[in-house]
Amino acid sequence: MTTRPVTTDDAGIPAPSDDHSLSVGPNGPLLLQDHYLIQKMAHFNRERVPERVVHAKGGGAHGVLRITEDVSQFTKAKLFRKGTETPLFLRFSTVAGELGSADTARDPRGFAIRFYTEDGNYDIVGNNTPIFFIRDPQKFSDFIHSQKRRADNHLRDHNMQWDFWTLSPESAHQVTFLMTDRGTPATWRHMHGFGSHTFLWYNAAGERYWVKYHFKTEQGIRNLTTAEAAALQSADPDHHTRDLYDAIRRGDHPSWTVNVQIMPFEAAAGYRFNPFDLTKVWPHSDYPEITIGRFTLDRNPDNYFAEVEQAGFEPSNLVPGIGASPDKMLQGRLFSYPDAHRYRIGPNYLQLPINQPRNAVHSYNADGPMAYRNPQDPVYAPNSAGGPVAAPSLYEGENYDVTGEIIRSAYVLHAEDDDYGQPRALWENVLSETDREHLVGNIVGHASAPEVTADMKKRVVEYWDNIHKDLGQGVARGLGLT
Ligand code: NDP
Ligand code: HEM
Repeated sequence: MTTRPVTTDDAGIPAPSDDHSLSVGPNGPLLLQDHYLIQKMAHFNRERVPERVVHAKGGGAHGVLRITEDVSQFTKAKLFRKGTETPLFLRFSTVAGELGSADTARDPRGFAIRFYTEDGNYDIVGNNTPIFFIRDPQKFSDFIHSQKRRADNHLRDHNMQWDFWTLSPESAHQVTFLMTDRGTPATWRHMHGFGSHTFLWYNAAGERYWVKYHFKTEQGIRNLTTAEAAALQSADPDHHTRDLYDAIRRGDHPSWTVNVQIMPFEAAAGYRFNPFDLTKVWPHSDYPEITIGRFTLDRNPDNYFAEVEQAGFEPSNLVPGIGASPDKMLQGRLFSYPDAHRYRIGPNYLQLPINQPRNAVHSYNADGPMAYRNPQDPVYAPNSAGGPVAAPSLYEGENYDVTGEIIRSAYVLHAEDDDYGQPRALWENVLSETDREHLVGNIVGHASAPEVTADMKKRVVEYWDNIHKDLGQGVARGLGLT
């Protein structure tokens, strides 16, 4: 017979009982001196950290990135050197639902990857779509409020959602994507991921490029119809979480190829679309995708709370060779995520194992709640005591000229910038006949919710009419407005 370990409290002290509290006689009141009971109850009350304000429901897994092509002419980032293998953690999520919500809801899916590189954490915090609903962070909280719950009855409200979308024409491309069957992926394994933003790459000579990331599923794309997604919402609300966990457990490790589109730095100004506008893709005819490697997910978390719930991804985690672009949304996100983690997890969230970089940390930040990394002397910079020194030369290439009036304004339009051209290309050139039928049906179903007013339905038809007359007509017919 194997000997079982003795239960202890969190201080390692052997527990007096797994069953009984300390009482005055078997039927009497309990005693304050039962420290073991009090620790258990008090700790239980503190088991939750706040759920993420968006992307609350999700799951994740560990894996590895392998780079197969030489891209050193574009970036000196060590993780992208040919032959390099980098451990990673990837978290998938829905956006609007709460922690216990159903995985198969119509929503973009988060696709957040942390690479534990030699130069520290590099996070690409993307979605399963290459674009987004808005192009200025000023509108993010308003957008999210419109997708979450009303103030009065605490209900999700499709009228509110369409109100925001139809008043925000820049949402047209992303809402088109969302209303196709790709808005309800069959599993997380059967969808692509995208870095979505444009990022800066620079090489060892300090030469600069703009880059977009595409992670293409090697399992193939598989989606659910609205009816299938709805059935799974009641049959198995955790369908995607379970699917990923089970696949990895049975050794069926999902993988994605890593593709990039690369634009010469100087080409941005004269490009036909604003290359930093997050509501736009770069058409492949202009910038084809280049495969540079692939990654595989091969290990489930041992502890969901420690590894998935406490994971704190940050678009601001950029390593030498990679920088930010002037995409206003990216700029907003550089602030937002570390700020969210300091609130949600605590100011020393980077000391938790899932967030801790795998290279040595020599930071002059010190102390604070739950600090356990041992700050070493000297505790200040500059110092003459042999402490760590910064390495500005690693960032040569990140710099570029920007001038202009300080202003609140839309992006300056490029030749072909409008809100409807790219979703129109999706409708006209990419979607199959079946995809189009499903798109119309999905929109009609969504806008037929009882709370959507007659006036709002007219605005919904106008919205789709702007993208394509056939699409507008299909929606009008479905809503009984013709
Ligand atoms: P391409 O024909 O070269 O590319 C079309 C892209 O759409 C491919 O990446 C394809 O890849 C993807 N796609 C195919 N079916 C669907 C679908 N049902 N829903 C969403 N995406 C789908 O044309 P362009 O590059 O000129 O782009 C045309 C339009 O395609 C864009 O306006 C945009 O709406 C959409 N698109 C473009 C992407 C880009 O980065 N250029 C990326 C994704 C979509 P796959 O089947 O592997 O997903
Ligand atoms: C999560 C803010 C746009 C993808 C979050 C969180 C915040 C946030 C505060 C919760 C973080 C946490 O508590 O851990 C913002 C703001 C945006 C924005 C202010 C725009 C200005 C985007 C865009 C994408 C995106 C454009 C994708 C391209 C994600 C993902 C997560 C997330 C994937 C979940 C990360 C995880 O798995 O932990 N966002 N977001 N967000 N966001 Fe955004």
